[in-house]
Amino acid sequence: MTTPWEQRYAQRTQRMGSSAIRELLKLTEQPDLISFAGGLPAPDLFPIDEFKESADRVLTRHGRKALQYSTTEGYRPLREFIVQKICRYGIEAAPENVLITSGSQQALDLIGKILINPGDRLLTERPTYLGALQAWRSYQAEFITVPVDDDGLQTDLLEEALCSGPKFMYILPNFQNPGGVTLNLPRRKDLILMADRYGTPIIEDDPYGELRYEGEHLPPLVVLDAEKLNDDSKTNGQGFCRGNVLYLSTFSKTLAPGLRLGWIVAPVSVIQRCVMAKQGMDLHSSTFIQMVAYDVAKGGFLERHVREIRDVYRHRRDVMLKAMDQHFPTAVRWTRPQGGLFLWAILPEHISAAAVLEKAVEYKVAFVPGTSFHPDGGGENTMRLNFSNAKPDQIEIGIKRLGQALSESLQETIVLEPALV
Ligand SMILES: Cc1ncc(COP(=O)(O)O)c(C=O)c1O
Repeated sequence: MTTPWEQRYAQRTQRMGSSAIRELLKLTEQPDLISFAGGLPAPDLFPIDEFKESADRVLTRHGRKALQYSTTEGYRPLREFIVQKICRYGIEAAPENVLITSGSQQALDLIGKILINPGDRLLTERPTYLGALQAWRSYQAEFITVPVDDDGLQTDLLEEALCSGPKFMYILPNFQNPGGVTLNLPRRKDLILMADRYGTPIIEDDPYGELRYEGEHLPPLVVLDAEKLNDDSKTNGQGFCRGNVLYLSTFSKTLAPGLRLGWIVAPVSVIQRCVMAKQGMDLHSSTFIQMVAYDVAKGGFLERHVREIRDVYRHRRDVMLKAMDQHFPTAVRWTRPQGGLFLWAILPEHISAAAVLEKAVEYKVAFVPGTSFHPDGGGENTMRLNFSNAKPDQIEIGIKRLGQALSESLQETIVLEPALV
């Protein structure tokens, strides 16, 4: 049935697509299917009792404020909390540099709204986070990509892409979604120098930085940028926020994604633009949720909770890697992430991950084929696996099933090959 709206959709909606991941998540609703498809944190770790107590406390002590409209910038104590939290990673900011958003997904959309004109070129990693592509496609952006390898963005291939004049770069330095890879320190420094040389600013998206299971913490790009600016004596002692990097993060992976709470750290002038844009979207993020999240997180709880999450996810990652070593055909390669929620598998070039998925679903296991993470095509032989959501025994069973699906897919194509020749 046609409605009066079909001919009235704005041009920008033509490039909007429903996320392949969201569609796939529907498959995971089958009760006996083991899903490595979503990017879901483990629900068994959600601090439900703490949320109950905090919600009660907030309503009892500050009910009238918590249920009222509030400022677009966000609940001041929560912004101060974030300032202290990121200070531990060397990011020097004031509460005025922080805007609370409805998940970092909204931060990505706000960035699109204030920065992207139709036809603007954006430089992303290949593969990259699908949600950013979805947000920015609706502002009619074009994408230029630079591949990642086991050490993150291949900065030696960056120059040519920068020459084509992207408006900004979108970089996920820690345990990248989807690849699970981390940008090493020399490349971080190269990136900052090249961003400066070509005058191309950076959006640093860091939802997973706290979830490191091994190895040394590496400085965020925003910190390296501030150091570079300090070297150049450009800051006049005014802190990092005159710099070239906007920093995004979220409570989704450390507290709970259902809160829909993230944040942008940016120069005050950029925050003010984002505030205007956010007013048109949702006025502000939920006052009540911000107050409850602050009450849960403060006083050292968040740090203790993150330590617990790290232990659980490290174990799940190790179980998945061990099971893959045991059950995956030797022709398949995969990343060994030092943190985060994902690892990335690369199949022989002639194997389609989408075809493997069909078989995998018959075996009652799911993953995400990698094509959707490639803004300019390719990646048909790649797949993303999430290791945070399923329990260890399920991971073992699921990977064994997936190994069977992969072995069969590989054998079938080997049988087909002589006929093709
Ligand atoms: C790289 C990246 N950025 C942003 C988001 C959005 O997170 P949220 O909106 O839940 O804060 C995600 C979620 O998976 C992500 O992986």
